[in-house]
Amino acid sequence: MESILAELEFRVRQALVNCFGDGCRDVEPQVRLSQDERFGDYQSNCAMGLGKKLGKKPRELAREIVDGLDVAELCEPPDIAGPGFINFRLKPSAIAARLQSIPPAPREGVDRMGVKTATEPITVVVDMSSPNLAKEMHVGHLRSTILGDCVARILEFKGHQVHRINHVGDWGTQFGMLVTHLRNTRPEVLGNLDQLRLPDLESFYVSAKAEFDRDPGFAAQARKAVTQLQGGDPETLRIWKAFCDESLRHCGAIYDRLDVRIENCGESFYNDLLPGVVEELLSKGLATISEGAVCVFLDGFVNREGNPLPMIVRKSDGGYNYATTDLTALKYRVEQLGARRIVYVVGVTQKQHLQMLFAAGRKAGWAPANVLTEHLAFGSVLGPDGRPFKTREGGTVKLKDLLDEAVFRARQVVESNEDDKAKARGLNEADRQRVAETVGMAAVRYFDLSHNLASDYKFNFDHMLAMEGNTAPYMLYAYARIRSIGRKAGVDYADIPADTPITLEHESELKLAKVLVRFPEVVSTVAGELHPNILTEYLYETSKAFSLFYDRVHGVRVIDAPPPARMSRLRLCDLAARTLRLGLGLLGIRTLEQM
Ligand code: ARG
Repeated sequence: MESILAELEFRVRQALVNCFGDGCRDVEPQVRLSQDERFGDYQSNCAMGLGKKLGKKPRELAREIVDGLDVAELCEPPDIAGPGFINFRLKPSAIAARLQSIPPAPREGVDRMGVKTATEPITVVVDMSSPNLAKEMHVGHLRSTILGDCVARILEFKGHQVHRINHVGDWGTQFGMLVTHLRNTRPEVLGNLDQLRLPDLESFYVSAKAEFDRDPGFAAQARKAVTQLQGGDPETLRIWKAFCDESLRHCGAIYDRLDVRIENCGESFYNDLLPGVVEELLSKGLATISEGAVCVFLDGFVNREGNPLPMIVRKSDGGYNYATTDLTALKYRVEQLGARRIVYVVGVTQKQHLQMLFAAGRKAGWAPANVLTEHLAFGSVLGPDGRPFKTREGGTVKLKDLLDEAVFRARQVVESNEDDKAKARGLNEADRQRVAETVGMAAVRYFDLSHNLASDYKFNFDHMLAMEGNTAPYMLYAYARIRSIGRKAGVDYADIPADTPITLEHESELKLAKVLVRFPEVVSTVAGELHPNILTEYLYETSKAFSLFYDRVHGVRVIDAPPPARMSRLRLCDLAARTLRLGLGLLGIRTLEQM
């Protein structure tokens, strides 16, 4: 069994069937990590629910389960506590055996640390980032990009086929305005549109909008351009496409910097399919025409007055909506891409839209019951004052500026380390800049991922760049430190034979080992629940357990420990470093050998 948790679940399940018969085959074993180590490492709460079902006292049932349990090689004899909790304390020998079975890191390719891929890999779509191309990416897109990337990395690591889809907003009336503004202000580039460069998309949009509001002639031209776009006029489409390409170049620069891979497949991709989707809804009797608009009514969705809330899929003027495109994309992803799980990494403000989308998709049969549709709803990024994040002038903060500042500030951290005799690494200029770029990106990512998904958070450079606490610099430093211990000890961790015995005697040693052995279970949980902060929390726990293990007073000797403890401990160092490297890698963070 891959994790201790899975092993315990399996054993409890077996005991339930042995004790109470086949009727208990579906009873959940309810094994969890203990909150308080005084009670053991894991606990099962299954006796409580079962008490009602079988009409017996939970404590008696717990006794019967424990008597029927076969866990002797894994744990000490389980205790029963309170109303009927079953507590498990792992045997050090069992933990050591599991750690010892982790294969050595491959010289090349991904280190899996013994984590297996899913037995039934599926195709997953992660709908992520998805900015509106009319404008510059801003801090709101940061979360969708980073969270989506992390989720995609974890699902890929578990062996699933993942499409990371950038559902960019590249269609709609704004583009008529932008095309017109481009025609008027940049006539010289119309002949060679691939040369089009707009250093500042945001101000281009703002001035186009100002023209639109000021000049009725311009507004009329813009509306005509919209009709031309919809009608497929080649010249208008060419200008539109050049604009989108330039906007996508801006996004691409950010993705490169953040080390994010993504496939662009924006709203316009679905244009030709929209009429068919609406026709199908009508012919299946799922949509009705109301005041000229085509509407889908879904059970349970009402407006503020309590009246049924329609999902409008074709407006009375014949135009299509955001919802129509999303419905079409859903159908496409299931039918054409073969998706069995679709994860929408979208702000919580779009909750109702996505709920209606999923409900309509089910009803139409485009997202049948075997397709899991999920909204990974995230909260907003706030400014230091707790209000929506804005520049001092009240404008949107460009993502690019934010990343530049993170690197600038990370560079200051590097400089101050270099000024400190105890920490100085003697980095040259190029190294300093490289470290600053890595630390800056890592800080922004880690800070975002370490927050609870649904909560808003305050963007704060000082917090994300702190050397202490649950931050990227602390984690990167912990990793680099473990690597340097290996160098000081004169061993290449990769050369330590895999069958080196691990002995867990000292309390701090056992504590570290108990954290390390949980890695596969944490990865499984995160792949299921898609909450990256579970992983950041775990990695933080790992680095703290390592600090304690290596602590001069509370920990053990490592480099100058007598054999065979020395090799056992160096092996633990290696496993800790690999856990951090792999775990941070799943968060999209690269480690540094020196920091
Ligand atoms: N473009 C939208 C926005 O910036 C997000 C799109 C999310 N994805 C989706 N399939 N609706 O708000």
